[in-house]
Amino acid sequence: MDNRPVLFFDSGVGGLSVLAAARALLPQMPVVYVADSAGFPYGTKSEAEIAARVPALLGRLAERYRPRLIVIACNTASTIALAAVRGALDVPVVGTVPAIKPAALVSKTRVIGVLGTPATVRQPYVDDLAQRFAGDCIVLRHGSAELVELAEAKLHGIATDPARYAAILDDLFGQEGGAQIDTIVNACTHFPLVAEELAAAAPHPITFVDGSAGIARRIAFLTDGQDWPDQPAQGRAVFTGSADANPALAATLAGFGLSEIETL
Ligand code: DGL
Repeated sequence: MDNRPVLFFDSGVGGLSVLAAARALLPQMPVVYVADSAGFPYGTKSEAEIAARVPALLGRLAERYRPRLIVIACNTASTIALAAVRGALDVPVVGTVPAIKPAALVSKTRVIGVLGTPATVRQPYVDDLAQRFAGDCIVLRHGSAELVELAEAKLHGIATDPARYAAILDDLFGQEGGAQIDTIVNACTHFPLVAEELAAAAPHPITFVDGSAGIARRIAFLTDGQDWPDQPAQGRAVFTGSADANPALAATLAGFGLSEIETL
C-alpha cells in the first residue's frame, strides 16, 4: 500500500482552502500540511526573498516527508518560484495561480477584480494570464497584506471588524471602471477562508472565483492509478516557526483533518 502523503505548502493557513477542495475529491489522501510560519507573510516580501526561500525549504521538506506530490497552495510562492521548484525537485509539483481564466468565463460586465497579496498582483505572470485569458476584459488589481492577516485572525478564533473588509474592497471598486466589477478572483489562498466576510462587505453581488477546485482535479489526474491507504490517515500540520499553541487554531486544523501538529 502506498502511504506517501501529498504535501501542501503555504506561508500560513491559506492553503487550507486548497486542501479542503482536494480532500473532498480524494478523501483517502494522506496529507502533510506545511505552514512556513517562520517566513510568514510572503506577500510583503521581495521576489528575491521568495525565490531564495521557497525552493530550498521545499527541497528539505521533500526529503523529510517523501511526498508523492507537492502542492504549492500559495499564489505568491507559485507566481514567483514555481518554475524553480519544479527544476530543483524530482517530485511532481502543482502550483496555485490566479484563476483569471475561469473568471473571464463567467464575467458578464467584462470587468474583473484580482485580489491578491502585494507581491502576487505585481507579477508578470498575472499580466500574462490577463492577456491570454481575459484579453477582452478590464482586469483591475489590488494587493492586500491586511486581508491575509484578517484570514489568519479568523482561523485563530479572533473576531475581525467588518469595516476592514469593506475598506479593502473599496480599493478595488474605487479604481477607474471598478464599479462595473462583477467577478473577483481570490488570488491568494487565504481569501476564500473569508469568503462570507468579503461577500457581506461587497457593494453589490459578486461572483468570487478561486483555483482550488481546479487544483483538486489536477491532483486527482496526476495521482490517477496510484494506491491510497484504505482508511484516511490522520493528517499532520507542520509549522516552520514555533508551534502555534492557539487552541482555536488546533480545532480549525482538526476540522480540516489535521490532528497532529509538529514544529520543524
Ligand atoms: N496564501 C498566500 C497566497 O496565496 C500568501 C499569504 C502571505 O502573504 O503570506 O498568496
